Amino acid sequence: MNRQIPAFIIAIFSIFSLHAQSTDPSLPHLVHKNGRHALIVDGEPFLILGAQCNNSSAWPAMLPKVWPAMEALHVNTLEIPIYWEQFEPQPGKYDYSVMDTIIVQARKRNMRLVLLWFATWKNGSNHYMPQWMKQQPEKHPNIIDKEGRPIDSPSPHADATLEADSKAFSAFMRHLKGFDRQHTVIMVQVENEPGSWGTVRDYSLKAQKIFDSPVPAEAIKVMNISPKSNRNWTEVFGRDADEFFQVWHVAKYISKIAAAGKEIYPIPLYVNGSIRDPLNPGWPPTYEVGGPNDNAFELWKAAAPAIDILAPDIYIGDTEGYLKALDLYSRPYNPLFVPETIGFGAFTRFFYAALGHGAIGYAPFGMDDTRVRLGQDGAPLSSEEKYGATALNYRLFKPMARQIAQLNFEGKIQTAVQLSAISPDAERGNSVDRVNYLTDRTLHFDGWDADIAFGTFSRLARSESQPEAPDGRILVAELDKGQYLLAGYHSRVMFRPTGNNRNKPWQYLIVEEGRFVNGEFKVDRILNGDQTDWGLNFAEPTVLRVSVYVR
Ligand code: DGJ
Repeated sequence: MNRQIPAFIIAIFSIFSLHAQSTDPSLPHLVHKNGRHALIVDGEPFLILGAQCNNSSAWPAMLPKVWPAMEALHVNTLEIPIYWEQFEPQPGKYDYSVMDTIIVQARKRNMRLVLLWFATWKNGSNHYMPQWMKQQPEKHPNIIDKEGRPIDSPSPHADATLEADSKAFSAFMRHLKGFDRQHTVIMVQVENEPGSWGTVRDYSLKAQKIFDSPVPAEAIKVMNISPKSNRNWTEVFGRDADEFFQVWHVAKYISKIAAAGKEIYPIPLYVNGSIRDPLNPGWPPTYEVGGPNDNAFELWKAAAPAIDILAPDIYIGDTEGYLKALDLYSRPYNPLFVPETIGFGAFTRFFYAALGHGAIGYAPFGMDDTRVRLGQDGAPLSSEEKYGATALNYRLFKPMARQIAQLNFEGKIQTAVQLSAISPDAERGNSVDRVNYLTDRTLHFDGWDADIAFGTFSRLARSESQPEAPDGRILVAELDKGQYLLAGYHSRVMFRPTGNNRNKPWQYLIVEEGRFVNGEFKVDRILNGDQTDWGLNFAEPTVLRVSVYVR
C-alpha cells in the first residue's frame, strides 16, 4: 500500500471522484476516503457477496439452473454476461429481452446484478461478436503477429469494430437507465479479460505505422519519462515498447466504449484481467497482454479514466501468490474487487484476505447448476459439496454485509488467513499454557493485540486431528477501543493488552455470540466459562461481539 502514486494519476482519480460525487447520488457509485473505498448502493456501503455463472448460462432457458445455485450460495449479487451476439443480432437492431428477463428475475429473488459486457474481447478473442461482424473480417480485423500470422484476437486498431461496440454499449446503458430505476444492476464489466494471447501486439501495417509514430504525451507523462518530443514507442519504452503499445491501445479502445456508456448512465464500470503471475511474471506473451496487469496500472489509469476499477481474476493456487495479487490490486487509487476466483475448499478463506485488503466485493466463478461436477468417486457432487465452502462464508456475512462494508470504509477491519497446513509433528512438544499459547499471527489494535492461531482446538492446544487443507480464517473489526466484532472459522483468538498495560491482568467484560438482523446485532447467547477461558474458538463459522478491559 505504500507505493508512490504519480501525481498525474491522483489528478485523474480526483477528477473522476468528483465526477462520481456530482452525479445523481441515488445511483450506485464509488466513494473514496484516505485511500479507502466503498461501493454505495441505495445510499449506503454495499459489500458484493457475489458469484459468477458459467459463460453460457445467461439465457432464459438456463436461468432455472442459475438461481437455485445462487440461493444455495447465499450470494447477494450475481455476475452474469450480456452477449453482444445476442444483443445485436442485426446491425443497429438491439434485443433487450434477455437482459430484461435477467433483471426481472433477479428482483424477484432480491438479488443484485453485475452485468458483464461480453463484446469485442472475451478472454482475448472476438468470439462474442455478432455473426454479421464475424463475416466481415476485413472490416473487423484480428491481430497479425510478428511473423505475419493471424491471431485469434481482435485488433484494438479496428475503428469500425470500436464504433459498433460503442454504439451497442451505449444502447445497452441507455436501456439500463430507463429499465432499472431501482438499481438492481450495481456495476457493469466492460469486455472480458481484454488483450491478446500468443502475440505481444498487433503487427499489421496499420498498427506498425502507429507504433513507429510519436508516443502520445499523456503516456510518456504518466510513466515518468523525460518528455522529449517525437519519439516513437521503441525509442521511449525500449524492450517494453511492444507490450505498452498494446496496453495503451486496448485501454484507449475500452475507455471510449466505457465513456460513451457512462455519459448516458454513470454507474461504476470496471475491467477484469487475466492477470500475470504476481510473483514470477515472466515476459510477454507468456501472459495475456493488453489487460490490466500490475505493470500496466499507470497506463491503464491514464488511458481509461472512465474505468473505475482494474480488477484481478485470481486463479492462483499458491497462498503467497494469491495474497500478492490482492496486494497489487488494492491501491489508494484502485478499489479491490475480485470478479472471478476459485470458490471451492480452502481457497474460500481468501475471501477474508480480500476483506482485509478493503475489498468492495468478491465472486467465485462458474457457480451454477448448468454443469455437473463429479467427485473423486465419479458421482455428481451435491449442491452442498459444490457450494458449501463458499456458502460457509456468505451465510455468515450476508446479514452483516452493509456493516462490514462500512467498517472497511472506515479502515476498522483486519483479517488473517492460515498460510499452510498444520503438520502434527510441528505441534508436538509445543508448550501450551496461558502465557505461551500458540500464535500464528498477531493483529494490532489500539491498546490491544489479538493473537490468532489456526486450526481446531481442545482447550489451549490444537486438537489431534486438523483440517487437511489450511482453511483457517478470521476477521477482527475494531468497533471502539477494546471492543470488537469477530467473524471466523477454524481459528482461535486471544486478546492481550499492550503498551503501558501490557503486564496488567485483563478480562472479558462480555463476549456475545449472535448475528445481525436488520442492521442490529442480535445476541443469541453470552459466552463465558469454558467457552472463553481457553480463548475465543471459532470451530464453526461464528460471529462474536467482544469487550475486553484491563483490571
Ligand atoms: C476467465 C474468464 O474471464 C471466464 O469467462 C472463464 O472463461 C474462465 N476464465 C474459465 O472458465
